Amino acid sequence: MKRILTGDRPTGKLHLGHFVGSLRSRVELQNDYDEFILVADVQALTTHFENPELIHDSIYQVAMDNLSVGLDPEKVTLVQQSMVSSIAELTIFYSMLVSVNQLSHNPTIKTEARNYGYKEMTYGFLGYPVSQTADITFCNADLVPFGEDQIPHIEMARKIVRKFNDLYGTDITEPEYKLSRVSRLCGLDGNAKMGKSLGNAIYLSDSAESVAAKVRNAVTDTNRISVKIPGNPDVCTVYQYHKAFNETEVDNICSMCRNAQIGCVACKKALAAKLNEILDPIRERRAHYEANLSEVKELLAEGTRKANRIGNENLAKIKEKMHVAL
Ligand code: TRP
Repeated sequence: MKRILTGDRPTGKLHLGHFVGSLRSRVELQNDYDEFILVADVQALTTHFENPELIHDSIYQVAMDNLSVGLDPEKVTLVQQSMVSSIAELTIFYSMLVSVNQLSHNPTIKTEARNYGYKEMTYGFLGYPVSQTADITFCNADLVPFGEDQIPHIEMARKIVRKFNDLYGTDITEPEYKLSRVSRLCGLDGNAKMGKSLGNAIYLSDSAESVAAKVRNAVTDTNRISVKIPGNPDVCTVYQYHKAFNETEVDNICSMCRNAQIGCVACKKALAAKLNEILDPIRERRAHYEANLSEVKELLAEGTRKANRIGNENLAKIKEKMHVAL
């Protein structure tokens, strides 16, 4: 079986943006790939180094989010990044092959730096795509399923690996990426992206009431001041959500909106109902894991041990090729 590696930063619970961007495809792919899910707590430090307790608590939240969406613990391997030392060592070796200039032109780094309001970037934040290259390659992953914001990182990873293999004669796998069907979810406030730091997110662990309330407050077509005038779905965030989550009803809702046959209130109700239908089984599984936290911790520990075995073996071969030896 080919191997997948993908992951999340534990800086809080995961939201619907993560779900459409990656979690949903992880579940679809788990039967056909050997899947590694990385809880990227070192990467979380690059933005949240002042709040390590939050990261530590979020490790289990993120693991539970992944299990709750339907990843089967018998099939997937959950890994805690900070506990895999081969990732850290590989990061250092890879860092020689990337220029500072290359990193500072990475569009995702630029957007995130803007969102976080960084005037200056730390070395660790600027360099996280290098560490992410190590995340993907310590286990020779073939495929990374993700949303479009990760494309620049995977492209950089491919470049690094190619250069590294050429230089040292190693045979590290050059990863491919697979974009999700919906690879970016806008915020309910009309912001281009749903994000924790943007304060516009619906969490996988939100209650049904909270989901309904958030949807009720969503920004629609602001020109539609009355239900009697036709709406324009193209500028409506709620329509984007119907497209992402409500495949069976979206076309009908769209034409009704254009013909003033459905108002925003009813349209939002339909969306909230659909989201809760998707989230209900997720909430149910989550309740199980919340009541059995030790099970989650053990899965993470076991997966991390397996990752260390694989990573150490690969790293030993790489170091030998590089003449990094006693
Ligand atoms: N950068 C990803 C995010 O922001 C998280 C991540 C860390 C990741 N390591 C990874 C994704 C490796 C894919 C592969 O959500």
